[in-house]
Amino acid sequence: MKKIVLAYSGGLDTSCAIKWLKDKGFEVVCFIADLGQGEDFQKIEERALAAGALKVYAKDLQEEFISDFIVPALKANAIYEGKYLLATALGRPLIAKYLVEVAHKEKAEYVGHGCTGKGNDQVRLEVTTAILDPKLKIVAPLREWEFKSREEEIEYAHLHNIPIDVTKKKPYSIDRNLWGLAIEAGILENLEQEPPEDAYLMTKGPTGTSSYPKYVEVAFEKGVPTKVDGKALKLKQIIALLNEVGGSYGVGRADVVENRLVGIKSREIYEAPAATMLYTAHRELESLVLDRDLAHFKEMISLKYAELIYYGLWYSQLKEALDGFIDKTQKRVSGTIKLKLFKGSCVAVGRKSAHSLYKKELSTYGKEDTFDHKLADGFIKIWGMPYKR
Ligand code: ARG
Repeated sequence: MKKIVLAYSGGLDTSCAIKWLKDKGFEVVCFIADLGQGEDFQKIEERALAAGALKVYAKDLQEEFISDFIVPALKANAIYEGKYLLATALGRPLIAKYLVEVAHKEKAEYVGHGCTGKGNDQVRLEVTTAILDPKLKIVAPLREWEFKSREEEIEYAHLHNIPIDVTKKKPYSIDRNLWGLAIEAGILENLEQEPPEDAYLMTKGPTGTSSYPKYVEVAFEKGVPTKVDGKALKLKQIIALLNEVGGSYGVGRADVVENRLVGIKSREIYEAPAATMLYTAHRELESLVLDRDLAHFKEMISLKYAELIYYGLWYSQLKEALDGFIDKTQKRVSGTIKLKLFKGSCVAVGRKSAHSLYKKELSTYGKEDTFDHKLADGFIKIWGMPYKR
């Protein structure tokens, strides 16, 4: 019999996919990834079995997600099209890595997923799978099956006793992990319309937040966050804490029209309080400790790095080579940044580092100034020389 490892979320699509794949002659092994989406995995596991899965693997991948995906992306200052901190995109190669691992363990020749034919995630999962094991074959039920609407799927689920939550029609498509949340569809497809306040799940709107600012100090060690307000914490705790604090000050919202891989423009809103705070602080620290050439060059690398993540090319040679460069840049990125949170904004207002390249005696306009102003004259003449007409 053909065997498939299916990336299973517990939702309607992947639950119907189990039954659909069985009817196509597959034995279905489900893989459930815990990336900090905060769900009841016990329940999801039971649901997979009830829907007809032969076996279920559930794995807590949070630590690996943080150390091997989030940390490199943070060191790179990776942000797609200036707004999206890539939470979903970063999770996909990790999920695919385990789909491949389970497929090997189970001697399955197929992997499957519940992505549609229009999105980025199908590309990320399949390209990663192909890089890690080109012999594995892919089945994407949502690209093939006959259901035309959610209602038809629900009917199918009822008919075959597939357990699903259909309390009320969910207005949005949501993807969540510990690095952030992506929300699309429904009313958000109307570009002229401001997202309704109740679409947001992690952050408060500006009218609900405090009238006083909050200051948060984040310390980094070689580009990796290590402390919040002087207290040493594990990165997982830092992310949880900043999601909480940032969210309560409305930090980390983004309303985006983005360019998808498949050529479509789509409207999506994002919430990423911790990611936004850490990105802001990390960049600020770099501006203090990296010299001008390196800082400017690294900006170009950031852009490319974000593209590679978005495009599903995490396991590419280029990404690995860029990691080598980025790691080198981080050896001086230690210090503390003070952030100010207020009504949805997050700005760096204080910075300190033992590797700071800021020299007050040079930049000051006060009487301690040691900069030799007379040197500027010769510098300017020589600097401008090649451009004279
Ligand atoms: N547009 C984002 C990306 O491609 C998020 C995709 C998942 N979004 C969702 N709402 N289900 O990474």
